[in-house]
Amino acid sequence: MRELAGKTAFVTGGAGGIGFELGRAFAQARMNVMLADIETEALAAAVKSLENVGPDVRGVVCDVADPESVERAAKASYETFGNVHVVCNNAGVAAGGGIDNISLDNWRWVLDVNLMGVLHGIRSFLPHIRAHGEGGHFVNTASMAGMQGGLGFSPYGASKFAVVSMSEGLAAQVRPLGIGVSVLCPSFVRTRIGESGRNRQQRYGPTPSLDPNSPAAAVVAEIASRLQAGLDPAAVAARVLDAIRDDELYVFTHPNMREEVDERFAAIQAAMDKAGR
Ligand SMILES: NC(=O)c1ccc[n+]([C@@H]2O[C@H](COP(=O)([O-])OP(=O)(O)OC[C@H]3O[C@@H](n4cnc5c(N)ncnc54)[C@H](O)[C@@H]3O)[C@@H](O)[C@H]2O)c1
Repeated sequence: MRELAGKTAFVTGGAGGIGFELGRAFAQARMNVMLADIETEALAAAVKSLENVGPDVRGVVCDVADPESVERAAKASYETFGNVHVVCNNAGVAAGGGIDNISLDNWRWVLDVNLMGVLHGIRSFLPHIRAHGEGGHFVNTASMAGMQGGLGFSPYGASKFAVVSMSEGLAAQVRPLGIGVSVLCPSFVRTRIGESGRNRQQRYGPTPSLDPNSPAAAVVAEIASRLQAGLDPAAVAARVLDAIRDDELYVFTHPNMREEVDERFAAIQAAMDKAGR
């Protein structure tokens, strides 16, 4: 979608981190913006801080894990702005733990938000974008954790591999309709993803506590320090806008991760070679 000005963007997880910077970048590109988020106060603050940036920035409280909540947020967007063109299914959460102690509640929470949340956004907005015929673009936030299994056995990695796969499938299906798809795969970005428990819905039970001396706790601490030193989320947003304009499927922000991806594909190719022998 070459021309963004005058169009409308919907961004989940828009109250903070990458989603907020996406909202800011869209507003700077003269788009109307609807920020959707589960965190009410942060959402109000985000909308306020962008009020003089773009033509019109609004907020809607939304839990992406709940299909009806996403449907309501979509309707609120049409009522406010008319047609929506860019949909960023970006809200996400991470939960730590080791192979033998990740609770089923944690699996459900992470998969419901990171995977089903993306699906709910696609299901709610695709019929609308197809019907208005003005073109559109979906941006689904995955992660480098969806490109290589570096995080090991984890609901986060599983959800992100699924988002990559779903985005590839969606892209093939909607390209003939003039609708683009990008899958965003960052590595560490300086956001509050390490404090995802702040948005854990009660239905998933309490946040399990980690034994501070466990290997899993050491991994969580390492991730927290790498997040602090991570990329500026505004740089991620800038890359996404370029990808929308140039209709790019894969959006990477950390070229230093190439080696890990190469290693994975080399192992896959070697296994294929063996099968062909
Ligand atoms: N920060 C990183 O290093 C990194 C790397 C790769 C991918 N990502 C992905 O980027 C996306 C954005 O995360 P971030 O890093 O900006 O984290 P963040 O915690 O700063 O922002 C996430 C936003 O999503 C919202 N949210 C959480 N649960 C929600 C729900 N159920 N419904 C609606 N909104 C909800 C939060 O309130 C928050 O505003 C996520 O999908 C994450 O997995 C982040």
